[in-house]
Amino acid sequence: MKICVITGSARGKGTSSRLADAFIKGAEAAGHDVFRFDAPFHRVHPCISCNTCRKGGTKACMFGDDMRTILVPKLIEADAVVFASPIYFAGLSAQLKAVIDRFYGYVDDIKGNKKTALLLSFGDETLGSAEGAILTYRHMADYLGWENRGVLTAIGCYTPDDLLASDFLYRAVQMGATI
Ligand SMILES: Cc1cc2nc3c(=O)[nH]c(=O)nc-3n(C[C@H](O)[C@H](O)[C@H](O)COP(=O)(O)O)c2cc1C
Repeated sequence: MKICVITGSARGKGTSSRLADAFIKGAEAAGHDVFRFDAPFHRVHPCISCNTCRKGGTKACMFGDDMRTILVPKLIEADAVVFASPIYFAGLSAQLKAVIDRFYGYVDDIKGNKKTALLLSFGDETLGSAEGAILTYRHMADYLGWENRGVLTAIGCYTPDDLLASDFLYRAVQMGATI
């Protein structure tokens, strides 16, 4: 399978990034072909609701940034799209949310026939902190007709060191191997 992994933390070696590393390790060991897009290190303009993508001749999004030139071609060919994000105020990171909002301009190209999964890291010990992010993810998956293959909630993980005292990295590897 072709898998597109999209990460949302500007901490390149941070907690959610480590979860993504582990997922990719499992996926590649299982023979999958993985493309990784670290959203905070790319130019992805937030959607401005101009609706250019829904009208006019080409119906193309007006932003010719890394979303269009790098990520969208990989999304179109992907069999699975996997997200990794820290929880910020009970939601996804702004950088990852910007990518998801831009899916609006490419719905016809990317909907249906894909699997998806979500990896979340956050400090709190209760799942309530992740509810907003999971709701967003589930709504997106439903809207696009993607099959949800699971959500990994790495609770109690403020830092990458917290991951080492848990089985979350192991579970992320397993998710990658079994998606
Ligand atoms: C702006 C900001 C908001 C945060 N909000 C929450 C929160 O609502 N709940 C929580 O449990 N942790 C929260 N955290 C902690 C992060 O989710 C946690 O440190 C996470 O592991 C960071 O992942 P990263 O290293 O991949 O960036 C917040 C951190 C930041 C910087």
